[in-house]
Amino acid sequence: MADGESIESLLHEGRLFPPPDAVRAGAEVRSLDQWREVHARSLADPEGYWAEEAGRLEWFRTWDRVLEWAPPDARWFAGATTNLCHNCVDRHAAGPRADAAAILWEGEPIGPDGPEVRRVSFADLRRETARLGAVLKSLGVRKGDIVTIYMPMVPELAIAMLACARIGAAHSVIFGGFSASAIADRVADAGSRVILTADGGWRRGKIVPLKENVDAACVTLAGAGVRVEHVVVLERCGNPVAWHHAPEASHGDKRDHWWHDLMRAAPDDGACEPMDSEALLFVLYTSGSTGKPKGILHTTGGYMTHVATTARVVFDLDAARGDVFWCTADCGWVTGHSYVVYGALCNGVTTVMYEGAPDAPTPGRFWEIVERHGVTQFYTAPTAIRAFMKWGEEHPRKSDLRSLRVLGTVGEPINPEAWMWYHRAIGAERCPIVDTWWQTETGGHMITPLPGATPTKPGSCTLPFFGVDAAIVNEQGREMPANQGGLLAIRRPWPGMLRGVLNDRERFVQTYWSRIKGPDGEPYYFAGDGARRDEDGYFWIMGRVDDVINVSGHRLGTMEVESALVSHPAVAEAAVVSMPHEIKGAGIAAFVTLREGAGVSADEALRETLRSHVVKEIGAIARPDVVRFTKSLPKTRSGKIMRRLLRAIAEGREHVGDTTTLEDYAVLAKLRESDEG
Ligand code: WT7
Repeated sequence: MADGESIESLLHEGRLFPPPDAVRAGAEVRSLDQWREVHARSLADPEGYWAEEAGRLEWFRTWDRVLEWAPPDARWFAGATTNLCHNCVDRHAAGPRADAAAILWEGEPIGPDGPEVRRVSFADLRRETARLGAVLKSLGVRKGDIVTIYMPMVPELAIAMLACARIGAAHSVIFGGFSASAIADRVADAGSRVILTADGGWRRGKIVPLKENVDAACVTLAGAGVRVEHVVVLERCGNPVAWHHAPEASHGDKRDHWWHDLMRAAPDDGACEPMDSEALLFVLYTSGSTGKPKGILHTTGGYMTHVATTARVVFDLDAARGDVFWCTADCGWVTGHSYVVYGALCNGVTTVMYEGAPDAPTPGRFWEIVERHGVTQFYTAPTAIRAFMKWGEEHPRKSDLRSLRVLGTVGEPINPEAWMWYHRAIGAERCPIVDTWWQTETGGHMITPLPGATPTKPGSCTLPFFGVDAAIVNEQGREMPANQGGLLAIRRPWPGMLRGVLNDRERFVQTYWSRIKGPDGEPYYFAGDGARRDEDGYFWIMGRVDDVINVSGHRLGTMEVESALVSHPAVAEAAVVSMPHEIKGAGIAAFVTLREGAGVSADEALRETLRSHVVKEIGAIARPDVVRFTKSLPKTRSGKIMRRLLRAIAEGREHVGDTTTLEDYAVLAKLRESDEG
């Protein structure tokens, strides 16, 4: 198909896929009419809707009020106490699901007897979270403390998160692909004194040196006067690691501990701590357009209700039916928090975890996992789907995918071609696709089809979830007519909403609650996305409106990459913009001016050095795809970098010739300005 044609099909996407009868028959919501009725009711009385949902979960003390809303501050289920670990683990361990699999895990390496597989039952999880909870307490972790977790995708990562919830500590999970300096920033911001990590994790046949990265982060932190008291190390890969002892360390003063040593003696009878509904559950760092990453805050009761409800309704989860849910996200992202761990387990459903890369050792790995474990719901990102497309349909064809019932996607808009491929090559045209729009900040799904109810259109995330008042508005807060682009806003509070940004009230208020106001001056939640609604009320996300690049479904602030680049001695100035990328959706293009007298030449070697420098500073996800050297950056008279021009160049809309030599894009800008009169 010619390029021009695929753009056409995107613009005139008219295909409509009704929910397959087989899924519709067993689903909770079985028609669009039923969706309309429940949605109307949920918006007429959101508190009633969410209270009913909360009632399906267990609370130690019930709420006095469902919602206290003093914009932008919400308190959901005020006065109630509960515990998320109790709802995910103990509740099921005490019932008929005790011996059912809570976690089915596969390691990446494949040995002569196949991959390493572990099955963790709800009873196992209860025992392990109790033991790790006791370990954390013995290391001085108290209610409200923030524990940093930097681990590979192994069951112990989920156990660590749940153990924190169990004892009322909050967790801050850092994606294992992030670098030492990213760890140091986050640990310092969260004030964590305890870090849980592993010697390493397997990724594409190589060991990711997690402990080594933590050691380097601790050195940086020590230099800044921040002391990490305890590092607990899971033995995963058996790679050699350095061991840190305070010189005069008596037993209790040691910094580094083996996970298995501490667990051996730990009691397994600790109960779940009753936690206030608004107690901090976790901090998760996400990129913004300026400055350092923001620590998004999520609390207990509302978040639990939101993720339990959306997991059940959107993925059509049913523990009694023996569902096996697989969300391929790493627990370092919000998708891993809300659906790999909390959403599935809250519903008593088996969750699949996989340690490694989708093409390790072959591009068929995911489909082998689906077959081996009988996965019923599969949830992944468009970037992965595009990679599968590229690797070819012969790989999924080798596996039996008939167990699959519902497919999901998240992270960025899915291009209709990828949607169609997913539908055909993975879903055999019989699995509905739920394209779920949400964010780190929203905690759970906000706009999404329901698999047995919503006719889907490739590329659209369709309709708001129950109780969610989403709208496309202009800067004045007025709703846009059909098919006119505007800002995506949420006009009312929802239970999984962020409660703040750690240590930065101003940023919380400014970023999310100051840009758009409703007719009575009430603040709307500003999501940072541009979008439109079509004539059927379906939402089509158009992408970020700020300086944030969505790489492989994960947000990266251009500012962060720029700061990483200018921290290299050869670089004077840097500007980073997005560029189209076949697999990742968006790639990163960096325009760099060099420091005079740095004694370096603008060549391929330097380009590679700068790329590696960014990887070291932030992590592999931020590695620039293209580095271009320029004599100066195009700027407006007020000194703002003309990103639009750089974007045009990065997208190849501007012929710039040979890129190995220094170019003067500012000159280009001047020419352009004069062109435009
Ligand atoms: C941003 C949030 C939510 C977990 C993964 C990313 C984009 C997310 C979709 C979707 C179109 C989407 C948005 C959003 N996004 N899901 N289904 N269709 N765009 O979480 O890092 O917080 O990023 O991802 O731009 O604002 P995140």
